[in-house]
Amino acid sequence: MSAEEKNEDPSPPSSYFIGKREDIVKVKRVTKFINGRDVLVLYHNGTFHAMDMRCYHSGGPLQNGDIEEFSGKLCIVCPWHKYKITLLEGEGLYQAVDPSQKVLKPKWASKGIKQRVHLQTQNTTPYDSKSRLPVDVVSVSHSKHVSAFSNFST
Ligand code: FES
Repeated sequence: MSAEEKNEDPSPPSSYFIGKREDIVKVKRVTKFINGRDVLVLYHNGTFHAMDMRCYHSGGPLQNGDIEEFSGKLCIVCPWHKYKITLLEGEGLYQAVDPSQKVLKPKWASKGIKQRVHLQTQNTTPYDSKSRLPVDVVSVSHSKHVSAFSNFST
């Protein structure tokens, strides 16, 4: 008899229950305190995203941020100082200008990975090794639960 048949959680021990999938889809945003970190899980345009709830800049409440697209990337806009953070990577975006140019034309640029993100693990591969952040991922189970799998060691 499998773990599911025994009505046990088949997730590995490092998973954390966030909520029922359909509940998160309905409310769109959920926050949960996990191992000393506030984690935001949000559902947008058919996809789950998750990241630390507190903005990397100064702790702003990202659960209250608008979601907008900049330079082709979906971002959450921190309500405190309007920093743009990509949902997928936690990358900080800003508008840069080249002062050597006569006509200043702002272009979107990256500050690099700034915000700790937690991603779905349906593909089983943790997302980003370039960020040098601990690899944190959120898993959406095939049934009805959303769980966060995380390395919360730092
Ligand atoms: Fe988020 Fe400043 S706290 S932009």
